[in-house]
Amino acid sequence: MSNPYRDEFPPVTRIPARGRGRDEILTMMRELRDREEARWSDGFASGSVYHGDPDHVAFLSEVYTLHSQTNPLHADLWPSITKFDGEIVRMTAAMLNGGDEVVGTVSSGGTESILLAMKAYRDRGHQNGIERPAMIVADTAHAAFDKAAQYFGIDKITVPHAADGRADAAATAAAITPSTVVIVGSAPNFPNGLIDPIEELAALAADRGIGMHVDACLGGFVLPWAEKLGYAVPPFDFRVAGVTSMSADTHKYGYAAKGTSVVLYRGNELRHLQYYTTASWSGGLYYSPTFAGSRPGALIAQCWAAMVAMGEDGYLDAVRRIVETATAVKAAVRAIPGLDVIGDPLFDVAFRSDEVNIWGVLDEMSKRGWSLNGLQHPAAMHLCVTLRHTRPGVIDRFAADLAACVEYVREHPDAGHDMAPVYGMAQMTELTDAVEQGIAEYVDKLYEV
Ligand SMILES: Cc1ncc(COP(=O)(O)O)c(C=O)c1O
Repeated sequence: MSNPYRDEFPPVTRIPARGRGRDEILTMMRELRDREEARWSDGFASGSVYHGDPDHVAFLSEVYTLHSQTNPLHADLWPSITKFDGEIVRMTAAMLNGGDEVVGTVSSGGTESILLAMKAYRDRGHQNGIERPAMIVADTAHAAFDKAAQYFGIDKITVPHAADGRADAAATAAAITPSTVVIVGSAPNFPNGLIDPIEELAALAADRGIGMHVDACLGGFVLPWAEKLGYAVPPFDFRVAGVTSMSADTHKYGYAAKGTSVVLYRGNELRHLQYYTTASWSGGLYYSPTFAGSRPGALIAQCWAAMVAMGEDGYLDAVRRIVETATAVKAAVRAIPGLDVIGDPLFDVAFRSDEVNIWGVLDEMSKRGWSLNGLQHPAAMHLCVTLRHTRPGVIDRFAADLAACVEYVREHPDAGHDMAPVYGMAQMTELTDAVEQGIAEYVDKLYEV
């Protein structure tokens, strides 16, 4: 996996003594882009690029270019960026049925939104005299919650999901202790694309006067429109009384370029706990609403532009196409003997098998160019449907490749041994401690020049 271009494009390990020509640099950049674009652009990837139509990308790039020098750390120089930022928050809050009491900020992505919210709950716990605050998450909640627990010294209580694949409300209730500061639900979760019982979880939180965070990083810009289109969407947003915060990613189904997400709070008290402010620094008055100091204002501008250019009509049309395509994906998977779709997801379709090693199938699909996600507990894989998959022929190709790979793994139970070490090896159905210990070296290798 590490640097496949080593021979063809000799690594640059020192700043060149004489600057290279811009044309030369651009030629190289274009060449690399052209080689790598086809796979995601032709719909071989799960998630990853959520819109990707060339005219949409060109429009966002033009907006980026206009604002490329901006930085909201200097709000006096670029009030346009703070205007865009504030409006992104208001538009997202309104989409998620939050009233004026719902406030928030734009962050750099889903992980940062989650980290910010968890830090706010931790600090509120400390204010309330809880020495070691705890969060309760289902095992299907995103890894970002574990990251938050590690970074901020929060105890993470993990509750196994219920038999239907969603968070287990009864087990969550049993896990609450006086140290619990927040319960987490996903709408939907990343692994199996199912929406947790948000109303039940939020009622538990409200009853105890603790926080309830809904991670709608994946579904925040899908579910509101799916509901308007008449699909069955259980209550998941600020209409649910106990929900105190949400994360929703503009850089996924909001169709902005990578680098933005929104974190929302019911009430300013929690938002203030995520802000950093100081009046005692020798550098003078300093504040930053999120983790970063300087921030790319251009990403905020292009996020605003993406949302306003899409409009309700654009989002509705996109979600209609995505859900119809996901319906075709579910039908294709169910038609293959030995495969089972987990639950009835709206757009992120996970499937498993009692008959063939599903990770072997995943590896065989990789050999055919697919970039899908391997899952565990239970071993499964998923295709998170985006606009890239709504184009003619993509799902037919997926169905044909999947059927052929399942057949191959049935006949070759050892298939997949030569694939990447992190997911690889057909005999495995669970990532072991040995894999965990090897991940850091694997990451080192990725960045070797
Ligand atoms: C449900 C959910 N939460 C959080 C995240 C983290 O988002 P990001 O990769 O933007 O940090 C993801 C990413 O896929 C997700 O699916």
